[in-house]
Amino acid sequence: MAVNEMPRPAKNMNHARDPTAPNRSVRIPSLPADRGGVEQGTTEDTRSVNEGPAAARLGAGASETKLSRRRMEGCDPRSGVPDREDEAARDRLYLLASGFRMTQALYVAAKLGIADRLVRGPQDAQSLAGELNVHPDSLFRVLRALAAVGVFTVDPQGRFALSPVGEYLRSDVQDSLAAFATFQGEEPYAAFGDLLHTVRTGETAFDHRYGMGHFDYLARHPEAGVTFHRTMAAGHASDGDPLEGCDLGDRRVLVDIGGGRGALLAAVLLHRPTLRGVLFDVPVALVDAPAFLEAAHVTDRCEIRTGSAFDAVPSGGDVYVLSRILHDWPDDRALQLLRNCRAAMPPGGLLILLEGVLPETAPPPTRVQLDLMMMVMNGGRERTEAEWRRLLGRAGFALDRVLPGRRNQDRILASPSGVVPGEAPGPEHRSPPEDR
Ligand SMILES: C[S@@+](CC[C@H](N)C(=O)[O-])C[C@H]1O[C@@H](n2cnc3c(N)ncnc32)[C@H](O)[C@@H]1O
Repeated sequence: MAVNEMPRPAKNMNHARDPTAPNRSVRIPSLPADRGGVEQGTTEDTRSVNEGPAAARLGAGASETKLSRRRMEGCDPRSGVPDREDEAARDRLYLLASGFRMTQALYVAAKLGIADRLVRGPQDAQSLAGELNVHPDSLFRVLRALAAVGVFTVDPQGRFALSPVGEYLRSDVQDSLAAFATFQGEEPYAAFGDLLHTVRTGETAFDHRYGMGHFDYLARHPEAGVTFHRTMAAGHASDGDPLEGCDLGDRRVLVDIGGGRGALLAAVLLHRPTLRGVLFDVPVALVDAPAFLEAAHVTDRCEIRTGSAFDAVPSGGDVYVLSRILHDWPDDRALQLLRNCRAAMPPGGLLILLEGVLPETAPPPTRVQLDLMMMVMNGGRERTEAEWRRLLGRAGFALDRVLPGRRNQDRILASPSGVVPGEAPGPEHRSPPEDR
């Protein structure tokens, strides 16, 4: 078999080679320096070419396949060295497949508060490790790996500093992702390990991994709850009006369902001095709310109410806001929440959903990855405009308008329609039996 017909061997065959397979080594020149830096090359790489069962499996009929044709086209026919385009494609997949490494490296940096320390100026790993009482060489290697993907810069003296990307790891900046990076590395990281289980069974990976739903877990693990609610609140940390463009008319009381510590409600009230607010959530989510609302100087216009929105939501409001609530749930449960809102709302009430509206075609990676997150964590989903319209209709609302928002927070405005809700949930997007 010619070298350029073979599946490309892993560079370190100590890990990848089938030990039972005969193999031979091929000396090939080092790869171009600008190929993405996935692995450090020496001046000359020695790669074993595996001709064992695994290679045979991959190679079976290889000359017939598109991949193999591409591989052959993508190689210098004399040396077998892949051309840059082919190598870049492989490196891209390599990095995608090993993305968990960066999730955890970022988690370590966020958890240790590295970025907040680097605000004072560049620092080497040794001195950072001394301050943090962690292992210097291990910390150095994590920071070096993050520098290689652009989170930090490193100077010739080995001192790390924040790059524009790394700035978002600071906890004190607008739109900080520090809490997010911490959260991602904890339960979501573990739950995504059961994504295959979800695909095989339709069950929620988080529940499979932890034996309970995510919100039940947060209620029983206050530390995880703090990280989660801090992450959520950071999503509303900008100075802007979260309901920009939404005409509330002369409505007077806004009820924020599942409002967490009140970041969104506080921001809305600050932009509307005559509006009053009701913050509603499960008790554990509201622990920090009084202090937060106090700090935002909106306590005198706010009432805090606890309960489960699956039972009922507070009446007395004329604007009901659900921000990043319904995407947490499959259709049947989301419908229950909407129907409870419908039951509490006056005829002239306004419903505002802050949710992503998934484009019908070519949705961007952030949005479809969030969809995976919803599937894994709660059995929820991102929805297209047509799906939102249908869901709202089944709960007795008419979708009036969609205002595109930043990131995954579009604003969907709906009003109670003449249709009295009561229809049973349709067959699609139902939660698995144990979730109901
Ligand atoms: C993804 S967070 C969104 C928080 C906030 N609305 C925001 O946009 O930042 C989901 C919220 O739903 C709340 N929640 C979960 N189960 C609930 C229930 N049964 N009743 C009321 N709120 C609930 C959680 O406590 C949490 O605050």
